[in-house]
Amino acid sequence: MVGLALLGYGVVGSGVAELLQKNAAHIEKKAGGKIGLRHILDIRDLSRTPYADLATQDFSQIENDPDVQVIVECIGGVGTALDYVSRALRAGKHVITSNKELVAEHGAELLAMAKERNLNFLFEGSVGGGIPVLRPLAQCLAANQLYEIVGILNGTSNYILTRMLHQSASFDEALREAKSYGYAESNPVDDVSGRDACRKICVLASLASGRHVYPAQVDTEGITQIGGSDMRFAQRNGYRVKLLGRAIFREPAVCNVIYVAPHLVPEDHPLAGVHDVFNAVWIHGDTVGEVMFYGRGAGREPTASAIAADIIDTAKHMTARKWLGWDPSDSRERLSPVELPSVWYVRTAQGGQLTEPMTARKYDAWARTLPKEPEYRMRVL
Ligand code: HSE
Repeated sequence: MVGLALLGYGVVGSGVAELLQKNAAHIEKKAGGKIGLRHILDIRDLSRTPYADLATQDFSQIENDPDVQVIVECIGGVGTALDYVSRALRAGKHVITSNKELVAEHGAELLAMAKERNLNFLFEGSVGGGIPVLRPLAQCLAANQLYEIVGILNGTSNYILTRMLHQSASFDEALREAKSYGYAESNPVDDVSGRDACRKICVLASLASGRHVYPAQVDTEGITQIGGSDMRFAQRNGYRVKLLGRAIFREPAVCNVIYVAPHLVPEDHPLAGVHDVFNAVWIHGDTVGEVMFYGRGAGREPTASAIAADIIDTAKHMTARKWLGWDPSDSRERLSPVELPSVWYVRTAQGGQLTEPMTARKYDAWARTLPKEPEYRMRVL
């Protein structure tokens, strides 16, 4: 029997508890033993849930329970979650999380703590919801020198862009829907500002390069400035508008450009066909060529699916830990795309147009020569 504690009974946490119960026999078989949920920590009153008996608001009860070997963190953010995860590792407990902010900001230090104590710190659900992508990247593609990773990494913003494309909802309506489906962050500004996608491309780039890439190193732009005319221009000219996280590797395993921004994606690129809450991660490696991982990028069940897989993996590796991680790095290094050439889409009062390929620096100089500065611009992938 592996004893488990769940931190947070929100959208994702409640999905994990339900999945462990619904598929208990199957999970037991896969894990090679029973998974026993012993505590659920939440500041809310859980007396009306099926788990009233397991509810606690006191983390020290979990920390000091010798029968809890694995802690699943579904609180989110980096305040309380960082404190509890650090304490859990110090107490010798394996940790599983889908908290991308925690992993993107503090991954290197938490991975080091886990390594020192021979513990697992797994986070498959932190990128792409239910899409299996971190293990395939770290293991199946391990022999490749990677050129590039490009991802649609935020389900909420992809849902909004899809709804706007079909002109069936305004930005605000689509965001309300995304919230009601449990896709959006507790602060949806993180979704539409690109911050959530930034954290996820950081996790991917860190894993691919073996060195921590921090959100502060990533130029990040969201979807709030995109209007109906941009969507129509894209559609008329054979593109889709997508919020992309992009990491480019110019030397073996060295990420030297990383950013998040909306792009025009040519219709024949596989990322152009990724709609609604779906996410996809497109990877170009020297040996494998191009691969793409696709699936539901947000929501209760898909994320619970990834977390439950980490629980099973941990149960099978209680002593011989799984290695999935990276080393610390200098967070002050600039990884800006300013020298990356692109064709640019430009919106002026006269309408949309595409430029010749040029770097962002050249684009800025060119834009200043126009009679009136463009209202908006996006790279073309
Ligand atoms: N708010 C996130 C999204 C949840 O919309 O993708 C999954 O990380």
